[in-house]
Amino acid sequence: MDGCVSTMLKSLFVFGVLGVLLIPAKCEQISVCVNNDNVRVDCLIEPKPNKINSYEFSWSTGNKETVINTNVSGSAPDAQFKDISQVEELDPQGYRMTLHGFKDKVPLSTTYMCKISGVGANISLEKDQLLQCSAVSVFLKSSFSWIVCLLLFFYHTHS
Ligand SMILES: *[C@@H]1O[C@H](CO)[C@@H](O)[C@H](O)[C@H]1NC(C)=O
Ligand SMILES: *[C@@H]1O[C@H](CO)[C@@H](O)[C@H](O)[C@H]1NC(C)=O
Repeated sequence: MDGCVSTMLKSLFVFGVLGVLLIPAKCEQISVCVNNDNVRVDCLIEPKPNKINSYEFSWSTGNKETVINTNVSGSAPDAQFKDISQVEELDPQGYRMTLHGFKDKVPLSTTYMCKISGVGANISLEKDQLLQCSAVSVFLKSSFSWIVCLLLFFYHTHS
């Protein structure tokens, strides 16, 4: 076998192994973690081209959905979150919502939801499943994770 092909196979193998580790945790479209006393929700849904860009963060407990922060026109956040939540844009895509000082007040069992331009994602977490952001942000923060996700995507669809 010539060198190039075997190098390629080796790197595919490495990506395959990494993929098993990375896909479940790192290619989620929504992730939740706590940073000091703050709850942070990252929404990494790709915005649809040709659609007005908008975001909405909410959670539901039992069957009650509460909007935390949004800029969808006609939709308003619940009053209790108005002054303590903040949304910033993530590079290269997505939005991050930070809920200040709310770590100890999150409901025990919560479905966190976000929507970007109408497309939604959600994740259900028990209070004690919330991880410190420092433990998960190493990969998530940078565009590196997106490159890995893309590579994995192509690797999986072309094999
Ligand atoms: C929501 O905020 C984003 C980023 O600040 C902005 O690009 C978008 O136009 C806003 N959407 C609406 C409906 O105001
Ligand atoms: C949560 O996401 C799943 C798909 O991942 C979807 O089927 C379900 O309807 C969503 N639930 C809510 C409450 O949005």
